[in-house]
Amino acid sequence: MSVEGEVPPPEVKHYNSRDDVPQDIQKYWAQRYNIFSKYDDGVWLTDDAWFGVTPEPVATKIADHVAAARSLKKCIMIDAFAGVGGNAIAFARSNKWKRVYAIEKDPAVLQCAKHNAKIYGVEDKITWFEGDCFETIRLYLKDLGPYSVIFASPPWGGELTEESHPLRTYALHWR
Ligand SMILES: C[S@@+](CC[C@H](N)C(=O)[O-])C[C@H]1O[C@@H](n2cnc3c(N)ncnc32)[C@H](O)[C@@H]1O
Repeated sequence: MSVEGEVPPPEVKHYNSRDDVPQDIQKYWAQRYNIFSKYDDGVWLTDDAWFGVTPEPVATKIADHVAAARSLKKCIMIDAFAGVGGNAIAFARSNKWKRVYAIEKDPAVLQCAKHNAKIYGVEDKITWFEGDCFETIRLYLKDLGPYSVIFASPPWGGELTEESHPLRTYALHWR
């Protein structure tokens, strides 16, 4: 299923050939169908997402494991670092959650996730938030704590200082 009529922001791309891909990430081109099996349906990625996204088979396996390990009252999934949607889409496709909430602070990356969720037919199963996950959870999702699992796939590469590390304030005080 392709999504007709959606125009990506400038930093978002759907490359159609290896030659279009910037040289520093060309090595990921061969993995495109592992990243998203529906890549050819018009999947959107930012250039950073090529190495930040959770590949589809891994995301599916994680979704299976998390669903199997949770207690029954935990029926809400919160993907705190949604990226371009690799994990959020897999959680939604698993049909194991009453609702998936997905938070992403970068607006262009979030647009990719929403677009990709449409390609996979699960956009109606996910509620999206643009912003900082700690702030978003504190302001809007805190009451869901007893019913929720928080999944975190934070940035793992680049120059992470103590100050910039996304887990620096991991103090949500949930039960
Ligand atoms: C490793 S990627 C997540 C990839 C995602 N699991 C996927 O499969 O597409 C980490 C994402 O976290 C986002 N991010 C970093 N800090 C954040 C924060 N404080 N709140 C929300 N999102 C954040 C980044 O913009 C980036 O898109």
